[in-house]
Amino acid sequence: MSKARIVEKKELGKDYIYFVLREPGIASLASPGQFVMVRVGGSWDPLLRRPLGIFWAEGEHFALLFKVVGRGTSALGNLNCGDFVDVIGPLGNSFSRRDNGPFLIIAGGRGLVPLYFLAHSFSRVKLPFVFCVGFKFREELQLLRFLEGKNWKIFVACEEEGEKVFCGTVLDVARLCLRQGSFSRIYACGPHEFLRSMAMDNEFKNLPVEASFEALMGCGCGLCLSCAIKKR
Ligand SMILES: Cc1cc2nc3c(=O)[nH]c(=O)nc-3n(C[C@H](O)[C@H](O)[C@H](O)COP(=O)(O)OP(=O)(O)OC[C@H]3O[C@@H](n4cnc5c(N)ncnc54)[C@H](O)[C@@H]3O)c2cc1C
Ligand code: FES
Repeated sequence: MSKARIVEKKELGKDYIYFVLREPGIASLASPGQFVMVRVGGSWDPLLRRPLGIFWAEGEHFALLFKVVGRGTSALGNLNCGDFVDVIGPLGNSFSRRDNGPFLIIAGGRGLVPLYFLAHSFSRVKLPFVFCVGFKFREELQLLRFLEGKNWKIFVACEEEGEKVFCGTVLDVARLCLRQGSFSRIYACGPHEFLRSMAMDNEFKNLPVEASFEALMGCGCGLCLSCAIKKR
């Protein structure tokens, strides 16, 4: 259990909050795909910690990017620079790297969080990848600010019409990439419906896929099985 100090906070639109936290222990151990369990609020209510993916980690700092959806995330979003957050982590499996790509990375909505960290790690060692990211709402396109200035091949989709973005789902855009390129593996994270559609789609069946799911979490460390997901 650690106390991480918020050193930077950004409010992105009405729903998203970005924190940079100082906690050298977590920052030095974190790998793409891992998360932290965050205690929200100063009392035991809400009792359960909330899982949040690690957006990036470097030196003594790591970042969180989360959508305010309920009580816990709203309490967390009310914290400010200088406040401390009670976190446990890094937890969970990280994405594996079994070959040298090229990789197709497909992020739906806040699935951007772990995959942004993954793309950074590939970019650092010059492994080739294509990054597809998609949002349901135009308002979420503001998250693209994190991708600005990156020397990555990025394709953006939005289900609402937006400027300079493909109008459709992230799977539509990923399908086009698959037809035009050759990839060794797919990494995906996003809402269940998106991952389910991908699993049912023949065009995605010929490649190994590593997917990160959101599930209700109790302990965050393999004890309670509340996060278990049926394979078929
Ligand atoms: C491994 C993992 C990583 C995640 N990373 C991110 C991230 O980087 N950014 C982000 O915005 N969101 C992320 N989430 C989702 C985030 O954990 C939930 O949005 C958050 O827990 C909701 O808490 P709340 O109290 O605000 O909402 P509540 O009022 O409790 O509920 C609102 C919604 O959130 C769901 N929820 C509540 N508690 C949990 C829980 N313990 N685990 C999962 N879902 C829950 C509920 O089913 C409900 O649909 C992640 C989830 C998991 C499992
Ligand atoms: S949350 Fe996964 S085992 Fe408890």
